[in-house]
Amino acid sequence: MLIRAEQLADYQEISDVILQAFGQDNEARLVQEIRKSTRYIPNLSLVAEVDGVIVGHILFSYIDLVDDVTCKVLGLAPLAVKSQFQKQGIGSALVRAGLIRADTMGESSAIALGNPQFYNRFGFKPSVCYQIESPFPVPEDFFMVKTLNNYRDQKGKVVYPPAFLGV
Ligand SMILES: CC(C)(COP(=O)(O)OP(=O)(O)OC[C@H]1O[C@@H](n2cnc3c(N)ncnc32)[C@H](O)[C@@H]1OP(=O)(O)O)[C@@H](O)C(=O)NCCC(=O)NCCS
Repeated sequence: MLIRAEQLADYQEISDVILQAFGQDNEARLVQEIRKSTRYIPNLSLVAEVDGVIVGHILFSYIDLVDDVTCKVLGLAPLAVKSQFQKQGIGSALVRAGLIRADTMGESSAIALGNPQFYNRFGFKPSVCYQIESPFPVPEDFFMVKTLNNYRDQKGKVVYPPAFLGV
């Protein structure tokens, strides 16, 4: 398996993977919207390839953390692995590769909404541990933060950009 940053030529294949994994097109459209926005980070849109075929994708993009000041943190969404390739470590490899890249780029933290049984293994913790508040009601354990080396106690309320409205 190879993990690399996405390229323009991958867009359709990535959409197909996301659509297949989620069984709906909201998340694929989210990726398309983010790519058109200032929140897009090309180096943090990663694909997993097996024998030259894209079987997984992860996107980290900028979302806002609003307190007295507003700072940009990473939102991890979406993450998708083609169903036939799930439970082989590909999703985990994408998360780990993304977090390493984000750390190298000097990002402070990443936020994920999802199942803690999956995300805790990468060091994600409930956002309330860091006084970071979800913008919508969600069980505490499911809204999580992974702090990176550059984390400096940023706290506040998360605000998602408009691209996320359709998800
Ligand atoms: C979630 C997803 C990306 C995981 O990818 P994957 O390649 O199967 O993940 P891995 O093989 O690295 O890890 C599988 C582990 O995660 C667990 N896991 C996977 N999806 C999970 C979920 N939704 N809730 C809880 N645990 C989950 C598996 O049980 C397995 O646990 P184990 O290692 O203890 O056996 C994949 O199942 C997927 O694309 N699902 C559909 C889209 C989706 O729900 N995306 C996540 C949005 S937060």
